[in-house]
Amino acid sequence: MQVALKIWRYDSTTGDRALKEYEIDAPEWATLLDCLDIVKDRHDGTLAYRKSCRMMICGSCGMRMDGAAVLACKTRMYEIAQAGHVPVVSAMGNLPIVRDLVVDMEPFWDKFKAMRPWLEPGYAEPPAGKEFQESQQAMNVIHKESLCINCGCCVSECNAMESDPDFFGPQALAKGMRFVGDPRDQATIERLEEYNSEHGIWDCTRCYFCNERCPKGVDPRDAIAKLGAESVRLGIDRDMGAKHAKWFVTSAKTTGWLRETELVPKTQGVVSSIKQMKFAMSLARKGKVPPPFPPHAARDVDESRGLYDVVKAQKRDGAAGIVQGEHALGRIEFLESAGAHATDPEVRPEKPTPPAEG
Ligand code: SF4
Ligand code: SF4
Ligand code: FES
Repeated sequence: MQVALKIWRYDSTTGDRALKEYEIDAPEWATLLDCLDIVKDRHDGTLAYRKSCRMMICGSCGMRMDGAAVLACKTRMYEIAQAGHVPVVSAMGNLPIVRDLVVDMEPFWDKFKAMRPWLEPGYAEPPAGKEFQESQQAMNVIHKESLCINCGCCVSECNAMESDPDFFGPQALAKGMRFVGDPRDQATIERLEEYNSEHGIWDCTRCYFCNERCPKGVDPRDAIAKLGAESVRLGIDRDMGAKHAKWFVTSAKTTGWLRETELVPKTQGVVSSIKQMKFAMSLARKGKVPPPFPPHAARDVDESRGLYDVVKAQKRDGAAGIVQGEHALGRIEFLESAGAHATDPEVRPEKPTPPAEG
């Protein structure tokens, strides 16, 4: 097939930047990475990009295509070429470009290391010389975070990092959750204290771009939500973000509504609220502030209270209560009703053979 690509070339030593177009002949199964290999092998040996495994494992080939982060070795080109589209390929965002499609990963690894990405010891020797065994249920809490291949696609698209480059970012925080949620780790409080500091979990804007772009279904935003839930559960709630979240829960439990009029004092404290009185009065004059008293309770508020009680009774008021999207395993073809074999060592998507007639 004929594939056309536009690639942003950049030389950090000279500052030269140019959008170059390449037209290549590629096999129909080619991925973006295969196409870049063809460009480099046959058309322009000066093109710089990273790769290693070619099979979505090493995390080396993160880059942007048409402005959104992708793993080049996961991105098939057939449909794009068939549609006559000429994609624009560029380096990942939120990291300094070294050359062409290669970014400096040092800031990424610095944040990764700041999470202390290793199990903190502190557990006793296994009983009777046996290894510790963790239940699948306990490890499910960090299953998705364990899938991360450190490719940086989430970081590339993070809105919070764009406005605050010091924000820990989705990859580092997902890594943090991988250890906070590990039942063998003994440093939960220390970790959460660090992750709750400036540039930490509450600075996430909840734009969900990281979930959208992660090629491995890690869902880093959900990992950040889990860290928040664990923080609140363990009483680490000094940040305004934590107070905000707590008020949502209290408000929903007591009235079934979000009592927005009280949100500011409950989140920012009385002094800060008084400073905003002028603004609040102007909203009130325009009828945009409902009277706080008496609080209006929803007709079916008992349902809301019942939900709260269920969460408490099932001990799901921390990370275990965060429902994650299942980008991969939740797909219809992986359901048993669609033919997946739940008892197989690997869940297979094929349909079962229908019984012979007669
Ligand atoms: S949801 Fe948060 S961490 Fe994820 S991309 Fe948006 S701001 Fe960044
Ligand atoms: S969370 Fe996903 S996008 Fe981010 S580094 Fe890990 S695998 Fe890549
Ligand atoms: S080359 Fe390893 S993930 Fe793409």
